[in-house]
Formats: sequence, structure tokens, C-alpha cells
Amino acid sequence: PTTRTFDFTITEIDGSPDGFSKSMLVVNGQFPGPTIEANQGDTISVTVTNSMSTATTIHWHGIYQNGTNYYDGTASVTECGIPAGSSQTYTFSVADFSGTTWWHAHATQYTDGIEGPLIVHPTSYPSGFPTWDEDIVIALTDVYHTFSSTIAQQYTQGGGTLSALELEVPDSGAINGVGQYDGSTDYFNLNLESGKTYRLRLIHMGSAAQIRFSIDYHALTVIEADSTLTQSDEVEGITLNVAQRYSVLVTTNQDAEPAGDYWIRAELISAASVSGTTTDIRGIMRYANSTADPTTDTDPGVPGAGLSDLDDTALVPAVATTPPDSTKSYTVDFSIAVDSAGATSANMNGTVWSPLSGTSTLLQIVNSDGSYAPEGASIQSTNQFMITEDDIQVVDLLLVNGGAGVHPFHLHGHSPYILGSGTGTYDGTGLNTVNPLNRDTYAVPSNGWLVARFVTDNPGIWTIHCHIAWHMEAGLLMQINSLPSKSSQFDIPSDIVSFCSS
Ligand code: C2O
Repeated sequence: PTTRTFDFTITEIDGSPDGFSKSMLVVNGQFPGPTIEANQGDTISVTVTNSMSTATTIHWHGIYQNGTNYYDGTASVTECGIPAGSSQTYTFSVADFSGTTWWHAHATQYTDGIEGPLIVHPTSYPSGFPTWDEDIVIALTDVYHTFSSTIAQQYTQGGGTLSALELEVPDSGAINGVGQYDGSTDYFNLNLESGKTYRLRLIHMGSAAQIRFSIDYHALTVIEADSTLTQSDEVEGITLNVAQRYSVLVTTNQDAEPAGDYWIRAELISAASVSGTTTDIRGIMRYANSTADPTTDTDPGVPGAGLSDLDDTALVPAVATTPPDSTKSYTVDFSIAVDSAGATSANMNGTVWSPLSGTSTLLQIVNSDGSYAPEGASIQSTNQFMITEDDIQVVDLLLVNGGAGVHPFHLHGHSPYILGSGTGTYDGTGLNTVNPLNRDTYAVPSNGWLVARFVTDNPGIWTIHCHIAWHMEAGLLMQINSLPSKSSQFDIPSDIVSFCSS
């Protein structure tokens, strides 16, 4: 094991990922930001220097942070944020984690560019797992031309000329930081050799749009969902929800005309309903540095292969797992409403989350005498909890979506077993407890439900929230307080504590 150290400096710059010049917040001048790469067992240590004018936190999406909940990077939950002009070092182990994930500011600031890949190579792969010649990260995003704080303010306060839907929908998108808006023709180029197999790590780092990924004429073999290795599933296209990841194998063995140049497509499928959005985002996959441009307009698919798009609910983990029996059930109903002034608010079990200022949830627990709020009670009223139990539980969490639209939910510090989902009302039957997929970001269907099973064996305050940036901003977030008597003994680093009072 090694300690991998990184220095991140966040600044505000002008950039134009899709050809439209705008203000961006970026790490080390890059969009997407630098890739963190490590081996399982390593320690990752990132010193973040905040050289922009507002406070920020960095979250390491999907990392368990067992024993280091205070480095989870959730604003007002685990820390108060790094003030402008200050630095903070996040140090955490990836002994218990491997796979494809990402890091991002835990606020709408990530929409402005504070985000990047995080790759942890496992100690070993299961026997018989497929192999590849080279490993490449493909970051997919939506792109907004308006600064996120402006969108967030209008979205939550109302009073502007744009509707909630118009505010939510992006202007365009980008593949590895290069996209097209309104007819621009700058493309991300992926230069590959012929006759090889590549592992593409697709990471949805966007804020709202579902993105369908495909490569003309090429089949995609899915081998990983979020950070879980899966049995191979050959597909034509994949729809990613915000914050989801898939690894796919692609073999450069095609000879369709013009040979050697193929469109990579990232289609913003859920953004099509608002005019002014460029939804057809493309890159070019080139064999052997070919320089022609692809000529196909519409997606030809994978001719003759009879493939369909990925059904993520049918994915099977590569290593069989049997979830433990549940000991507790919780139901969380959520919905989003827009009031007469046009202000959007989101609630979970009847309360709207809003950040605390001057303290964090974790600090309130650590600074106390070690006692904790009884089950169902809250530490502060704006800071609602789902569970606060001091013994390990196996929780079946039923998420109920009371409205139209898919919501990608993410529970920090865990990778729950996804036991079932559907539309309408859950009837209490039909959960898959035989080798279910575990993943950290899962789509709750429109007017539907999803059951996620997780074990509360990781001490700390963890959030569960919709990963659509605007929905979280509008309050679609709850907290889980696992093993409070253990987290009350955390030795919270003094810089984190001091930032709460600054
Ligand atoms: Cu990817 Cu709460 O975050």
C-alpha cells in the first residue's frame, strides 16, 4: 500500500466546453478535473485549496469512509466547508473499495466544473473475468451556460421568467469536456488501435439529464455497474442516470465506411422537451489516427447483431452475493412541488432539508456527551433523520416516488443491494434476494418505488439524496445516523472544526 497525494486548487475561470464561453469553477485549471488513480489498499490524500470566492466541500462518491466519516465532504452534514482562501486535506483509505467512481463538490458548484474521475484498481479480478488491452475514462456531462448559483437561486426562490423545468434542463453536454452547442463542430477524439479491446469507464458527472451512450457499429459489453463487477452483458446503448458509472469493453474490429471513423454518441434523452437545448452530443472514435469524419447521421446501431439497450435491473454481479436478512424496514415518500411564485421545494417524509450554518450534523453529535437523538427524533429540525440507531441493522429502505420523473438516489458510505423496483404501488412481494446487484446510485422510477437493502455497520452521518443537483438543492435529502455512540468518539480534525466557526 502507498499513500497517493494530490493537490487540488480550485479557481474560477472562463471556459467553453461546448463552444459557448462561460464562467466555470475548476480544479487545477482542468475540466473535467484531474483523475485520482490508486490501488485497493492505498491511502488517498488530497489537499484542496479554495481559491474561489465561496466555501466548498469535496465528496468522494461511493467511497465508504469507514472510520473517516468527517472526510465524506458533505456540506453542513459532515463539515461546514473550506472557506475562500483556506485549504483542507482529506485523507482516507481505499482498503475496502475498488472500481470506477468520481469526486465532486457537494453542492451545485459541481455543475460549474468541480468534478473528476476516481479510479481504484482491485487487488485482483475474479477468475474468468474478461481482460482488455487498455483502460480509458469517458466522462459524460450535461452543460449549463448559467452559473449554478444563479440557477439554484431562481429554482428555489422562484420569481424569475423561466419555469422550473426550463431551469433544470441543460443547454448541451460534453464528452471528456468537449461538446457542441448550436452547431459547433469541435469533437472529443478517441484515438485507438485496430484489433484491440478497450475498457471504457463511462462516468455520468452531470447534473440532471439522462444520457444515452453508444458508439456507431460497435457493441458494448458491460462489465461493471457503479463499482460492482458484473457478468458480461452485450448491448447496443446504455442510458446513464446522473452519477451512475458503467465499464464497457469495446473491440476495434469494424470496417464500416468510412473505415476507421465512428461517432461516439451521448444523447441527452431527458432534455429533449425544452427548446434551445442541443441534445445530440458527439465524439469521434478513430482507428489508427484516421482523420476523416464519420458520415452517418442517425445512429446505425450494431448491424446484424440483434442487440438491445441495457436493462440495468437485469445485471448480475460477477461475484455471487447473498444479502443478509433484513431486521428493519423504513419507507420514505418523496415528492417535489412548485408554489405559485415558481419556487421549487422537495420533501422526504414531509420535511424539506436545508443546510445548517455554523455547524454540521456530525459536530453536534461529536460535541455532545455521546448521547444521541432517539430513533425518529432529530438533532435540528431542518436536519431530518431516517434512522438513528446504535446497533447494527439490516435495513430495507422503500423509496416511494410521488411524482413524474426518474430520481437517481445515492446513499453515502454504502453500496446497497437493489432488491426491486417498479411503477405504481409496491405490493410487498417479489424482491430479488438471490444474487442481487449492489450499487451506490439507483433510479427510482417515475411514480414508482425501489427497495434498497443496506447494513448500518459504518459509523457516521450519511446522506441519502437525489443526485439531480437542483433537486438536492431544493431539499431532496435525508440523513442516516449509523452507530452514533461510535461516531461520537471521532477525533474530528481541527481544521474541519475551526471552519465551522469561521
Ligand atoms: Cu455524488 Cu452526495 O453525492
